Amino acid sequence: MTTDRLTKISLQENSQPRTVVITSGKGGVGKTTTTANLGMSIARLGYRVALIDADIGLRNLDLLLGLENRVLYTAMEVFNGECRLDQALITDKRWNNLTVLCISKNRQRYNLTRKNMLLLVDSIRARNYDFILIDCPAGIDVGFLNAIAPAEEAIIVTTPEITSIRDADRVAGLLEASGIYQVKLLVNRVRADMIQKNDMMSVRDVQEMLGISLLGAIPEDKSVIVSTNRGEPLVLRKRLTISGVAFENAARRLVGRKDFLTDLETETSNQKGMFNRIQKFLSTQLLPPFEE
Ligand SMILES: Nc1ncnc2c1ncn2[C@@H]1O[C@H](COP(=O)(O)OP(=O)(O)OP(=O)(O)O)[C@@H](O)[C@H]1O
Ligand SMILES: [Mg+2]
Repeated sequence: MTTDRLTKISLQENSQPRTVVITSGKGGVGKTTTTANLGMSIARLGYRVALIDADIGLRNLDLLLGLENRVLYTAMEVFNGECRLDQALITDKRWNNLTVLCISKNRQRYNLTRKNMLLLVDSIRARNYDFILIDCPAGIDVGFLNAIAPAEEAIIVTTPEITSIRDADRVAGLLEASGIYQVKLLVNRVRADMIQKNDMMSVRDVQEMLGISLLGAIPEDKSVIVSTNRGEPLVLRKRLTISGVAFENAARRLVGRKDFLTDLETETSNQKGMFNRIQKFLSTQLLPPFEE
């Protein structure tokens, strides 16, 4: 594993991992895409990361990471005593400090209770991770409640559409009611061209409506779909796309770093086009200040 342009940071041994749930209320807004890309980015920064796909029967996280053929066991087999936890934790071959756990391969869920979820995450916590990211299922029913149960922090993903924002607001209320107060917002599928024509709400508008501090804004980008189909998160690309840079910046913000890729002062000829496009994206006044 090389960390060349990325500096390795280690949290103190035996410190408690940060457990963050990625949620939205509305389906299909980008929770799994966010979990895969933030998880991979944070691992590349040198942290030990466990990703949990808490979507029962509709798991996708393994696909986005290209690990689908390696899912032999899930948390269900662990609960049933059919395998050990470490057999269900799949280690990424590219970054061995990144592991993935699926809760179930099918719709079997009789064993998944809030208590089991808490026990599961406690066992993962004991394995010296720095971050545990939980990919929440859509909706606000029992699957959502189980997924948020072990978390101390949350990232709410929304698109700049009113239906998604309303669900994000509902979820923010439910998180607060569950004692999760550290909540950040990630606005996905932003289109600067539509914002300029007043056909889409700006990130600033979305952030002000929800009143949640902003972790990141990710542009609409067809390379997201390409990367999903290839099982290779955007942030792994040698030449980052604009959404790849946006995910990397969000990951850096999440871990508390301030060396954002868009703050690069020196640009190479390779980066020039990209650099200009990012500058344009950021300069359209569509971003409110990020709160650290
Ligand atoms: N920034 C983006 N630009 C273009 N397409 C995107 C972007 N983000 C996500 N998508 C696409 O949107 C679809 C839904 O994304 P994803 O599966 O991450 O959402 P989800 O919130 O996890 O969905 P679910 O609620 O079903 O679990 C996928 O096809 C993905 O490729
Ligand atoms: Mg999903």
